Amino acid sequence: MSTERLWWQDGVIYQIYPRSFQDSNGDGVGDLAGIESRLDYLATLGIEAVWISPFYPSPMADFGYDVADYTGVDPIFGTLTDFDHLIAAVHARGLKLIVDFVPNHSSDQHPWFRESKSSRDNPKRDWYLWRDPAPGGGYPNNWMSNFGGPGWTFDEATGQYYYHSFLKEQPDLNWHNPAVREAIYGAMRFWLDRGVDGFRMDVLWLLIKDAAFRDNLPNPEWRPGASSFWSVLPTYTADQPETHQIVAEMRSVLDHYPERVLIGEIYLDVHDLVRYYGADSLLTGAQMPFNFHLIQTEWNADRIAELIREYESALPAGAWPNWVMGNHDQSRVASRIGPLQARAAAMLLLTLRGTPTIYNGEELGMTNGRIAPDQVQDPAEKNQPGIGMGRDPERTPMLWDTSAGAGFTTGTPWLPLNPDRTRTNVATESADDRSMLTLYRRLLGLRREHPALHTGSIENIWTDKGVLVYTRALGDERFQILLNLTGDIQTVHCDPGHIVLTTILDGEGAPVGGPMVIESGEGLLIRLG
Ligand code: NOJ
Repeated sequence: MSTERLWWQDGVIYQIYPRSFQDSNGDGVGDLAGIESRLDYLATLGIEAVWISPFYPSPMADFGYDVADYTGVDPIFGTLTDFDHLIAAVHARGLKLIVDFVPNHSSDQHPWFRESKSSRDNPKRDWYLWRDPAPGGGYPNNWMSNFGGPGWTFDEATGQYYYHSFLKEQPDLNWHNPAVREAIYGAMRFWLDRGVDGFRMDVLWLLIKDAAFRDNLPNPEWRPGASSFWSVLPTYTADQPETHQIVAEMRSVLDHYPERVLIGEIYLDVHDLVRYYGADSLLTGAQMPFNFHLIQTEWNADRIAELIREYESALPAGAWPNWVMGNHDQSRVASRIGPLQARAAAMLLLTLRGTPTIYNGEELGMTNGRIAPDQVQDPAEKNQPGIGMGRDPERTPMLWDTSAGAGFTTGTPWLPLNPDRTRTNVATESADDRSMLTLYRRLLGLRREHPALHTGSIENIWTDKGVLVYTRALGDERFQILLNLTGDIQTVHCDPGHIVLTTILDGEGAPVGGPMVIESGEGLLIRLG
């Protein structure tokens, strides 16, 4: 195995939700030219790679995660020429570009599905999951949709049901069919040939379903009022053994090109998750099965210390860790754990061992937007209103300045701008030494500057009175990180050294050692020795 370190190991990934990043033409929706116009911001922020959520032609039933053409650009986002300009501009700044890819399902408007639906004997019929009604009528089995209700929709014309893990407008492809695999790999090559540096694969752990279509097992913990999706366990619809073969095939598509990265969106417990690095010691799976456990773990020093230990010890030999703190499907960090703790969370994310992924706007400390009932856009909320499924609050537009459209648009934004935008925005925070953006810039700068912080080991993980403590080390360079994850002031022992950074941005250079008073949400980065 090569010991050479690659860009996706040393650098930080930044996720752009393209509808909400920068609008260039005043239609209220972000676009590729808008992203290009903000590349200097990203380059100076100190990230390494940009991952852009889907921009492919789409009816937008699920805002681009319903792809009608895997090799194009939706007019709302621009053209293929805009994409080519963007990738050239990204590379010219020494950055990398990762695209989102949605292999589990297409749009129902994709020509493949239109053909598949046209008749039972169409050659593409078997590209999707079609089933007869159950004997006596009704759904073929009990598989549910992630967005609520049964996962099966009946097609009157051909008398069969098709399965969709998400909306009925997002029919699942049949990954048992080799022709489907080849078609998707062909589309991947289309983007690799255009120079993309990697893929973030949507719902990678859901790709293949039980070939016998067995019923999922009931979920004894489900209670009415929770999403109907969880009324059954995903026994036969998720994490099927055959998935690993497909991931290895995808990886081999990428491996024909130098230094490309395969990232998988995978929500599984740590032990099932790390199997996506590849079933064998050769690590022929995804280089980065996304680790969402910081989002899912209780915000508590003991739980997080346990998580770090569990994850680090579960990683196969040679596998590189990664951590995600937020994305377009999850409540904003500052709303989840509060604005003070969000600062400690930033220090945690950027000082753990492994590649961090930052979701656009988190570097400003953006909170969830307020979405009135008549402003709801997300189908997950529309299908199951009022039970907390909606994702619009974390998708509100990026806040660039204090102008009427927050520098995001000259038109009417597709989702409302956050009410606190006069304080929380790039321009205001850039001029404020104590802002979240300044903290992010400092952390990103330190992480780049010090190999111990991007490459080094993580050691001595412990907690005391709700303060999480760990050390990052490489050669002679050692840093201790202390994070007060409680709501109260705490006093804990720190090793002797000098303060390099605090989340409250005070005391830099001060010698420390012994008892240390740490405010709620305060983090300390200490150079030891
Ligand atoms: C996961 C994506 O992150 C989410 O936004 C989308 O709705 C589903 N996959 C379906 O593609």
